[in-house]
Amino acid sequence: MKTVIYYFSGTGNTEKVVREAARSLSALGWGAEVCAIEQAENVPETVAACGSLCIAYPVHAFNAPASVLRFAEALPAQETEKPLYIFKTSGEPLALNNISSYKLRAVLAKKNFVFRGEYHYVMPYNIIFRHSDAMAYRMWETAKRLIPLDCADLAAGIEPPEKKFPFGGMLAGIMRVEHWGGRWNGKKYRVEESCVHCMKCVKTCPTHNITYEDGKFRFGGDCLMCMRCAFHCPKNAIKIGLFNKWKVNGAYTFLPPAEEEEERHTRYCKNSYEKYFESARARVLARGGDFPDELLLSAQSEEEDTARAAE
Ligand SMILES: Cc1cc2nc3c(=O)[nH]c(=O)nc-3n(C[C@H](O)[C@H](O)[C@H](O)COP(=O)(O)O)c2cc1C
Repeated sequence: MKTVIYYFSGTGNTEKVVREAARSLSALGWGAEVCAIEQAENVPETVAACGSLCIAYPVHAFNAPASVLRFAEALPAQETEKPLYIFKTSGEPLALNNISSYKLRAVLAKKNFVFRGEYHYVMPYNIIFRHSDAMAYRMWETAKRLIPLDCADLAAGIEPPEKKFPFGGMLAGIMRVEHWGGRWNGKKYRVEESCVHCMKCVKTCPTHNITYEDGKFRFGGDCLMCMRCAFHCPKNAIKIGLFNKWKVNGAYTFLPPAEEEEERHTRYCKNSYEKYFESARARVLARGGDFPDELLLSAQSEEEDTARAAE
């Protein structure tokens, strides 16, 4: 079976997941072509030549990013039914993130794509706050263990249980104000004096929304709020309008932290994260995989308790 994975990734998390999924699918004998939506060429021909379609995106305000919906809307209707799989990443494991694919699925259903399953991986935040290195490591190690299981199920035709959310479609529709809000807020981005004019932001913006002319940066009206410019700016010189207090700058290493670090947001969605890691562990162990205790949040709490007791 040949499939194609079209993905959008603002800051790299979704791309990381997609590459791992492609590796897993290839190991299962599936040819999996991977392509970033903003670089996609000959899409109708590629999709027509594949037995299924995979779409991957980071959850943005409980929705797929605007570029992903635009991409889906531009796809031609298929003559015969074609299976559709969705891969998504998000900073939180909240069940509400499940509503993010409703619109995408509705658009693609009209074009004869038949939804067969979606796979969700929690990855560190690229806005709101910076997850600790320990947490980013834990998330990626967990995703790496879940992806091969999900791909094995996908290849075997085992569909994951669908997670519905009451009034999800309506809620997602309201939250899509973010698409308009992002374009509006994007025009308010500014560049600080620390900028070294490396032009990374101009070169990598997925919608070519940033231009530099006559010594000035200009931010146009097609911002996706993907954070690529601000997150990867080597001088942390981009101010992201109204959301500047939520800015996160600098790539995650996804390695275990070299030194003890302070976890600043220990309470934020703690139960959801805990549930996510625990259920991942149960699933991995049940399938004969390994899932070290250090990847659980409870392991960290125990360490903290021991440290506190020793003080
Ligand atoms: C504008 C914006 C909105 C976001 N909204 C959500 C959200 O609703 N729920 C969530 O769990 N994470 C949310 N996130 C976090 C991202 O989904 C998460 O960090 C993702 O892994 C980023 O992937 P990427 O590096 O491929 O862009 C949001 C991020 C951005 C930039």
